[in-house]
Amino acid sequence: LFTGLEPIQTDSLLRLIQLAAEDDRPGKIDVGVGVYRTSNGATPILSAIKKAEKILWETQETKAYLGMSGDKKYAELLKPIVFGDDLAQMDGLIGLQTPGGCGALTLGFMLAKAANPATRVLVGTPTWANHPPVIRGAGLEIVEYDYYLKGETRIDFDAMMAAFDAARPGDVALLHGCCHNPTGADLDAGQWAKVRAKCAEKGIIPFVDIAYQGLGDGIDEDAEGLRGLVHACDEVIVAQSCDKNFGVYRDRVGCLFVKTGSEERAKVVNSHIMQIARTMWSMPPDHSAAAVRIILESDELRAEWLDELDMMRGRIVDLRKRIASSDPRLAYIADQKGMFSMMPLSPEQVEKLRIDHAIYMADSGRFNVCGMADEDVDRFCNAVLEAMDG
Ligand code: LMR
Repeated sequence: LFTGLEPIQTDSLLRLIQLAAEDDRPGKIDVGVGVYRTSNGATPILSAIKKAEKILWETQETKAYLGMSGDKKYAELLKPIVFGDDLAQMDGLIGLQTPGGCGALTLGFMLAKAANPATRVLVGTPTWANHPPVIRGAGLEIVEYDYYLKGETRIDFDAMMAAFDAARPGDVALLHGCCHNPTGADLDAGQWAKVRAKCAEKGIIPFVDIAYQGLGDGIDEDAEGLRGLVHACDEVIVAQSCDKNFGVYRDRVGCLFVKTGSEERAKVVNSHIMQIARTMWSMPPDHSAAAVRIILESDELRAEWLDELDMMRGRIVDLRKRIASSDPRLAYIADQKGMFSMMPLSPEQVEKLRIDHAIYMADSGRFNVCGMADEDVDRFCNAVLEAMDG
């Protein structure tokens, strides 16, 4: 069976994690994978999560299955966070717990495939390295367009609109809700307005990946683009993740939301979602969904979580300002959002940073803004500027 298999490259980000782990040079700066780090370079568990886990440990009496939907209250409590209080009440809004944002993406694209096998997906490049494999894995065709001009450190909005103009009714458009991964370059309010008008006019179905809500400008601010789409379009798919904003990374918990338009339609769509989820994970893992639910049920823990999220966002914004002020060529970094930005470096320059300075960033030049300790910021900026000059 296996003799015919050719080796394939793993995702370059996974390779990078391994390379960084194997490098024991002192002064290593690992700004590869997207995990939040404190000023000391640590990734502690949020105190709200710790407290929720304690409550869970003390009160949970069984590990018996909850059923295919997982923790239904978890998904219900997330709705107002993602959609706002009013939209969360709309008829026909499905919410289903998933293993991380990746589970939600996979489920959402497989649902699109089940609904229409000829669905094409508009994808702005660069995008998260795992988006194209997930979409192709679901058996869907990708239509790429240039989203970001790395050399000019700006969004190519004309190219995006041209791609939307050329779209067919029923095409799905993958959009980053906030904190664009890998560039940090988010659409502004005017651009979101044009995107939603175009989706409504052309019958394009928005598929929003929102994995960093709260780490850009704030919980509500980061969801404005998504909420505008939900107002404007009859059908919307949303892949949400709690991995970053609740800091539960390895425990993997997210949610798939689908705006279907009516309770009747939602029943049919839900039956397909359940069937697909059943074949992949049968029933979602519980731990972090339960912890998030406990936080959102308690005013006190919810406030504590929001404070911790504010603190993480504050550090990201401060680091952006610090890096931006080191040189006019890096000034754009202050205007971008979330964990990532992209340095205008070639893969060769990125490799040289790895070899000469033990600085680990993705080959694309994507780096995790909050991946470095405070004491490493100047050294990081100097090395990057040296590489840009080299
Ligand atoms: C990232 O982009 O660094 C994270 O989403 C981790 C991953 O799975 O790639």
